[in-house]
Amino acid sequence: MSTIVSSGLDIQKIRDMFPVLHQEVNGKPLIYFDNAATSQKPKSVIDALTGYYEGYNSNIHRGIHTLAEKATTAFEETRKRAQQFINSREAEEIIFTKGTTDSINLVASTFGRKFINEGDEIIITTMEHHSNIVPWQLLCEEKGAILKVIPINEAGEIIFEEYEKLLSEKTKLVSVVYASNSLGTVNPVEKIIAKAHEVGAKVLLDGAQAAAHIVLDVQKLNCDFLALSAHKAYGPTGTGILYGKREILEKIPPYQGGGEMIKDVSFNGTTYNDIPYKFEAGTPNIADVIAFKYAMDFIDELGKTNIAQHENDLLAYSTSQLQTVDGLKLVGTAQDKVSVSSFIVDGIHHFDLGMLLDAKGVAVRTGHHCTQPLMDNFCIEGTARASFAVYNTKAEIDVMVEGLHDIVKKYRK
Ligand code: ALA
Repeated sequence: MSTIVSSGLDIQKIRDMFPVLHQEVNGKPLIYFDNAATSQKPKSVIDALTGYYEGYNSNIHRGIHTLAEKATTAFEETRKRAQQFINSREAEEIIFTKGTTDSINLVASTFGRKFINEGDEIIITTMEHHSNIVPWQLLCEEKGAILKVIPINEAGEIIFEEYEKLLSEKTKLVSVVYASNSLGTVNPVEKIIAKAHEVGAKVLLDGAQAAAHIVLDVQKLNCDFLALSAHKAYGPTGTGILYGKREILEKIPPYQGGGEMIKDVSFNGTTYNDIPYKFEAGTPNIADVIAFKYAMDFIDELGKTNIAQHENDLLAYSTSQLQTVDGLKLVGTAQDKVSVSSFIVDGIHHFDLGMLLDAKGVAVRTGHHCTQPLMDNFCIEGTARASFAVYNTKAEIDVMVEGLHDIVKKYRK
C-alpha cells in the first residue's frame, strides 16, 4: 500500500526517521497524538546530540582550542539557521533561551520593567497559555499596570472588534498566541500586529504551537518579538529562541547577570556585551542548541506547506470521524486551525478518556493544558486533546475513534 499522501510526502519514510514511534505500549502499537505537548525527534536530531557529546563536547565562545572552536561554530550555525527559519533580518536578533516560557519571561523582565509603568496596559487573549498570562500578571503587580483580555466566540476565535476597543494610547504591549495549544485556533496575527502598531504598542507572538506547522516570517508579520520552543518542532527540550527587533533589543537591559553577557567587569561597574550575547548569561544549553538546527533542517526539507497540507488532511478527517462518537463534543472549531482536536465526552471524565485510550496504545493529553482561564470560559475543567504531527496517519485516527466508540459503549453513564 502506498504511504505517499496528497501532500507528496512519503509518511512511511518519515516514520522510519523516528525511532521512538516503533514500539508497543500496553501491548498495542504506539499511536502518538501528544505532539502539541512535545513532538518526537528524528534520528538526525538524536545523532547531533550524541555527536556533540561523543565528538566535541566543549564550552563555547571561551576557548581557542579545536574542540571549543568546533562547538562554537556549530552553536552559531544554529543561530544562522534560526534566522532563516523565521526570516529575521539578522542572526543577532536571535537569542537562545530555555524555550517559549523563558523567552516570554525575558521580555517581561527586560522590556516590561523598562517600558511598562503604572497605568499602562498589556493586552492578551482568552486563549493564552499560562506562560503568556502569569509573567504579565507579575509585571502588572510590580508596576501597577493593567492586563486586558480579548474575548473569544464559541468557536474559539478572538472577537476582533473587541480587540480594537481595548486598544488605546495606554496599550504598551500586545502579547498573543499565534496558534492555541488547547483549541488549535490560528489567530489573525498580521491584523493584530498592524492594529497594535497604530497605537504605538509593541507585539510579542507566542509561536510555540506555530513553529512546526506555519511558515514564520517575522519581517512580513512585523512582530516586535517572537518566542518559540525547539521541542515542539522536532527539536530537543530545554532550548528555544526569542526573536526581537534589533532596535528594541539594544534599548532594553540584560535579563540575567553572569559570564558571556558582559564586555568588561570591574567592582566599579560593568559594561554589557552586544546583542544577542547580552541576553545569554552563563554556559548555554550547547548540545540542544546544536541539535535544534537539525530539527529545522528536517522541517524545511519536507517543506512546511507540505507538512501543513498533510496535517490539515488529518485534522479534517479527525474532525469528521470524532463527531461519529456518541456524546462527543469538539472544543475549538475555528475556521483556521493547526492540527489539534480537543474534545470532551458527556458522562466520561477527560482523565478517564486519556487512561482508557492509553490502554489501547493511543497517547493523548488530558486536562486544562495550562490554559485554565480558557477552560473557565467554556465552563469545563479540561479536555482530551489529540494533536497531530507529520508522521501521523488516518489509520491511527481510525484506531483512536474505534477506541472511543468502544469506551463510550462500556463506560458512558
Ligand atoms: N504547552 C504544552 C501543551 O500544550 C505543554 O501540552
